[in-house]
Amino acid sequence: MTQATSAVALDGDVVDRLIQLIRDNGTDLAESALTVPTAHFVSRERAEAEITLMRSLPLIVGHVSDIPDPGSFFTRTILGIPLLVVRQKDGSVGVFRNMCRHRGGHVEPAEKGRKPIFMCQYHGWSYAAEGGALKGVPYEETGGKVDRRCNSLIAFPAEVRHGLIFATLSDIEPRTVAAYLGPEIDSQILPWQLEESVVFIDETIELDINWKLVVDGTIDSLHAQFLHPKPGGVGSRTVNHCAVFKEFGRHGKMFMARAKLKKLLDAGEDGSASSKYIGTVMQIFPNNVFVEAPEHVELWSVWPNVDDPTKCSVRFRFLVRADILSPELEARVRKSWEILREAGMEEDFPMEASIQRNAVSWPEGSYHYGRNEKPAQHLHRQLHKEIDGARTGPGTISFS
Ligand code: FES
Ligand SMILES: [Fe+2]
Repeated sequence: MTQATSAVALDGDVVDRLIQLIRDNGTDLAESALTVPTAHFVSRERAEAEITLMRSLPLIVGHVSDIPDPGSFFTRTILGIPLLVVRQKDGSVGVFRNMCRHRGGHVEPAEKGRKPIFMCQYHGWSYAAEGGALKGVPYEETGGKVDRRCNSLIAFPAEVRHGLIFATLSDIEPRTVAAYLGPEIDSQILPWQLEESVVFIDETIELDINWKLVVDGTIDSLHAQFLHPKPGGVGSRTVNHCAVFKEFGRHGKMFMARAKLKKLLDAGEDGSASSKYIGTVMQIFPNNVFVEAPEHVELWSVWPNVDDPTKCSVRFRFLVRADILSPELEARVRKSWEILREAGMEEDFPMEASIQRNAVSWPEGSYHYGRNEKPAQHLHRQLHKEIDGARTGPGTISFS
């Protein structure tokens, strides 16, 4: 990417297809409508199945700029597992349980810092930041010899790709992140040079909403005109009910037309050179949404609350390439964050919270995803495949 703007990679046919859809007042259609049980948003059993699935997949737990130097660390609880994430001397990242091998105290209470050794404050067992090996055991001569070979910090498979720290929080055979993302998603993240980006906005919001409803809202191409009607707001800047959706295995990408493209077409221009009037939302299964803005990336990571299926937390990271960051660009990115926050806090999240409350009050019910909601269907169809093994019947999604 040599310039600051228009980094959105468009497949050859997307612009033409969107233009056709605008002319037809159409949108990409799924093969059938989908019915999702409301229990999927409230049931503990369902939540546990989703969390078990998530732990078996490479998850984004951080960005390299969180831990710039060898020994730099951060601690974070992800899906109920306290983690200690440490930069290693060769540039790789160690992702460990933040758990002492003596009797389970946290070995590091601070949120972040830099240390060569982590020492548990309970009885003083200590571990190397490099590799997590057990080093010191106070009073070992009276306590009994502790085998260093099997008492290192417990490590999870981890990999850095595109500047993002991925970890698999289970002991299943890990797959490479490139294989997990697949060539299409991998190649579309690449031009953003996330490894050389700064995390410009890093905010977390706690919500009384099941995580899937939040993801649904990010890839819903039908709602902006109704939920965001303010002049100058999201609804006035996009063409409602007009989206191309490409499935890339588990993942997917939605392309939407900005209102400006429709204006050009209405004025008789052909619009085919107007890729900058196309916005995209990439869905990186299961819980990440990657919004490509002209000059920056908005990465949403939506985490279920492991204790309560009706809650989640959303971590927003806006990434901007360090070499193009300027006061003017900073101002534009901050403005984007304000628009997103305002639309989210005042419009999207209250609506999604109402959907959540209704699901809680009607757990035997179901919600409808029409054929024209192909992007929002994708997550539910994918979870169905991975959790239910495409089994149909009570408690599962159904098609019509
Ligand atoms: S629990 Fe860590 S030293 Fe005892
Ligand atoms: Fe919205």
